[in-house]
Amino acid sequence: MSEVPTAVLMKGITKRFAGVVANSNIDFEVREGEIHALLGENGAGKTTLMNILYGIYRPDEGEIYIYGKKAHIHSPKDAIALGIGMVHQQFRLVQTHTVVENIVLGTGNGLRFEEEEVRQKIVDLAQRYSLAINPDARIWQLSAGEQQRVEILKALYRGAKILILDEPTSMLTPLEIKELLQTLRRMTEEGNTIIFITHKLDEVTAVSHRVTILRQGKVTAVLETAKTNKVQLANLMVGREVLFRLEKPSVERGSEVLRVEGLEALSDKGLIAVNNVSFTVHRGEILGIAGVAGNGQRELLEVIAGLRPATRGKIFINGVEATRSSIRERINMGMSYVPGERMTALVPNMSIAENMILKSYRTAPISKGAFIDRREMLNLAQRLIQEYEVITPGPEKPVKLLSGGNIQRALMARELSQQVDILVAAYPTSGLDVGAIETIWRILLSQRPLGKAILLVSDDLEEILTLSDRVAVMHNGEIMGIVEPKEENLEKIGLMMAGALKLEQEQWV
Ligand SMILES: Nc1ncnc2c1ncn2[C@@H]1O[C@H](COP(=O)(O)OP(=O)(O)O)[C@@H](O)[C@H]1O
Ligand SMILES: [Mg+2]
Repeated sequence: MSEVPTAVLMKGITKRFAGVVANSNIDFEVREGEIHALLGENGAGKTTLMNILYGIYRPDEGEIYIYGKKAHIHSPKDAIALGIGMVHQQFRLVQTHTVVENIVLGTGNGLRFEEEEVRQKIVDLAQRYSLAINPDARIWQLSAGEQQRVEILKALYRGAKILILDEPTSMLTPLEIKELLQTLRRMTEEGNTIIFITHKLDEVTAVSHRVTILRQGKVTAVLETAKTNKVQLANLMVGREVLFRLEKPSVERGSEVLRVEGLEALSDKGLIAVNNVSFTVHRGEILGIAGVAGNGQRELLEVIAGLRPATRGKIFINGVEATRSSIRERINMGMSYVPGERMTALVPNMSIAENMILKSYRTAPISKGAFIDRREMLNLAQRLIQEYEVITPGPEKPVKLLSGGNIQRALMARELSQQVDILVAAYPTSGLDVGAIETIWRILLSQRPLGKAILLVSDDLEEILTLSDRVAVMHNGEIMGIVEPKEENLEKIGLMMAGALKLEQEQWV
């Protein structure tokens, strides 16, 4: 028996959705005053379990005890009354309202009466927990990190003693992550209890006291963080050995394949989204573009792919200007683009094989005049399926039946089986589980010795640092600097991501 009282006890929780057992007989215990990490891959059942605790879902089976007392949580209102607060992955703030208005919204504490008192209470809370925020700012004026502080304050204002944070670092810069972890420690010092959902091992080891690991809806272990390590955690999370160090042999940098010069492009709203961007990508190298989501990466990708016009600047592919070339022309010049929204690159109702040869259909041996040779098509698809480890129910089945990881492998196979000099890979592993990520990383790295150039754009800094030969950091539409992904450059990269540092062009590598 532990001496510390139990804040949350969930016993035998089972939750089924059509066709999926999201939570299967889960026991989950959180002690008062601890930071408890809930670790698991995408789809492991973390959010479902916490949505049950917060009263959003009703479990099919199981019981919940809060501070030792059996609880009947039928709605978030019940959860709040029990001192439970939740910060969801997607914030739920009203963009046009102020911080104070958002915090008070729905508490029945109308703003009109006792406005000053309410405001003061919020300011005091913010101070007590070092949650720097301007109470009168409107939500749309705030960064993701600041909006998250509003969500935390909102929960505290409602009297939360047990705070659930669902993947709270996914939208933050490295500096903001540091501050958040600081805040969490501060909160436990004030007697609060934290449940911290994550799939990132670094965060578990950095901040939690204990960790519960979920895999496919079941608990695989409950551990004291101090007595475990990342390798053990990863094995429990994934269920097999994970290779953290990928083979990344040095490859000599070859000739220039892509050059962009002083590129400018506008956002959908007509604002400057890409501002004077210049860089080159060479054969045998991966250039990674790092940055917090929404800093112009999407628009930059679209300009390079030919989906959005450049308002200034130039693009060259293999030394030939392509600024105004069509998508088809760019493909013929040697560029291939794999978009982040995977399904847009596919025809869902067409077969896996057809989707995989979608771009080879104009060339022999598949094309026989106006006809497609089905046998040849299936042969090629079969070869690619093997080479790229695509797990399929059969090449003639519709592509929409594939899981995210296998869709991504099929797409990569299709793009890389062309005469490609430069692959533009946008968010290639977003939403994939650890196993699929590893294959995609291997596929990308395997292109370097073949002399291909890769432009990699991702919000996942770890991915950028693992794969890239050079890292360009984008902030507010600009390239803040280009550095090598070395340990000693990490702080610089963080500062550049936050917009707090811009390197002179002479310092770029
Ligand atoms: N509302 C829902 N309807 C149907 N299936 C769901 C729903 N919510 C979650 N699931 C499924 O339950 C499983 C667990 O999901 P989730 O709890 O969101 O995992 P995690 O938060 O660990 O990524 C997944 O297979 C997911 O697709
Ligand atoms: Mg989740």
